[in-house]
Amino acid sequence: MKNRYSDLTEKVVFVTGAASGIGQAQAKAFLEQGSRVFGFDQQLGRMDDLSQQFSETFAYFLGDITNHSLLKKAVEQCHETFGKVAILLNTAGILDEYQPLLETDEALWDRVFAVNVKSMFQLTHLILPDMLEEETGTIINMASIAGFVGGGGGIAYTSAKHAIVGFTKQLALDYASQGIRIKGIAPGAIQTPMNAADFAGNGEMAEWVANETPVKRWAQPEEVAELTLFLATPQASYIQGTIIPIDGGWLLK
Ligand code: NAI
Repeated sequence: MKNRYSDLTEKVVFVTGAASGIGQAQAKAFLEQGSRVFGFDQQLGRMDDLSQQFSETFAYFLGDITNHSLLKKAVEQCHETFGKVAILLNTAGILDEYQPLLETDEALWDRVFAVNVKSMFQLTHLILPDMLEEETGTIINMASIAGFVGGGGGIAYTSAKHAIVGFTKQLALDYASQGIRIKGIAPGAIQTPMNAADFAGNGEMAEWVANETPVKRWAQPEEVAELTLFLATPQASYIQGTIIPIDGGWLLK
């Protein structure tokens, strides 16, 4: 798996949600290509394994992504440890328990938007100037099939993921001519701790999801990480503002 993408060697990658699931798989995939990865998460989780395995090239910051001053500190720490960020992976996110509008109070709505959307705006605000100075950089935002259709979450999550699709498109349009590559990923059913409830008990829910997916299975977070690697290479530099589904055909229906 190593050094398949030599362009990614020594690149500084900032990844949110690096302690678990897709973010952890992305961090590991870039580390395996020789990138220097700075993780941000509110829990240590699997960042512990990454620091042990990649002690020279992985560093992390623990904090709530909705706290702007902590984000600022983390970016400063990344600068001191590895230098300017070349690749930003906005991956951290939370689900909303699939609640419809009348079951969603203002606090849940605000939290889902703060974690999933506003943090992306704030972190991009902190990191984009570095990229503009270098006249190059890649930003990959984690959307979802819930960014295109209903049913992938409740009212708050689906609205937030649609907002991420819009954010990605406008950002991509605004900075395309200045060397910044901006893309999104829209995963379908990926087996991570976020979906642990679907696999609980006899796993009936997970089985239903697999059956509803045209290719009849869940995907692993490493499959999303593999797509992320490619999107960050110069070979993918003509892909701009596109949100790429990786969903086993879910959006075909
Ligand atoms: P996960 O729950 O395994 O990992 C999410 C990580 O984000 C966790 O380590 C968590 O601590 C961190 N995080 C959450 N809130 C945070 C906060 N306030 N501050 C700092 N860190 C915070 O979830 P998964 O599945 O890896 O999801 C990653 C992204 O992929 C999310 O944006 C999710 O919406 C998206 N996604 C996931 C799909 C799936 O099927 N697993 C499908 C489509 C999109």
